[in-house]
Amino acid sequence: MDRNHALALLDGHVHKESLRNHCLATAAIMRAAAPVMGGDPDRWELIGILHDIDFEEIDEDIDRHGEAGYAILKEAGVAEEIAEPIRRHNYMKFGDFDEPADIALTAADNISGLVIACAMVKRGKVTDVTAKSVKKKFKEKAFAAGCNRDRIRKIEAYMELPEFYGLAVGALQEIRDDIGLS
Ligand SMILES: [Fe+2]
Repeated sequence: MDRNHALALLDGHVHKESLRNHCLATAAIMRAAAPVMGGDPDRWELIGILHDIDFEEIDEDIDRHGEAGYAILKEAGVAEEIAEPIRRHNYMKFGDFDEPADIALTAADNISGLVIACAMVKRGKVTDVTAKSVKKKFKEKAFAAGCNRDRIRKIEAYMELPEFYGLAVGALQEIRDDIGLS
């Protein structure tokens, strides 16, 4: 499977622009984190693109999240090494896994929202966001309260948090035109 195939599959199941942007943002951060964490950037990017493919279909039945995505991906012939981490990223249901890709996925899932929220404060200019500003907002629990700081902190097994912030900011700056930022 290549990136275009993954995007086409995603577009068949995800129609909300904000959710699509979230998937692309998570993927870009996964790709950037892979070299630091000993992962395969191509595989990790695909996991990021597809991780929430079931989100509109489960209609807020969060218990089905991951499992429903896995079914969609298997039906489409997607490899187990991509589908399985997506299934189990619903850690509230399946518990925690120690694979680097699992840790990167839920960390990227949450830091992407925090960086995008920081960009929104700057009128959508992600080029004005820095690792330092993300660090400050990370400490303000009421800011982007839906972004789970504990999931982000799990990345500390592989790198210092400021490195992860910088890597996430850089990744989103690179794809800013694709995710409605500037
Ligand atoms: Fe997500």
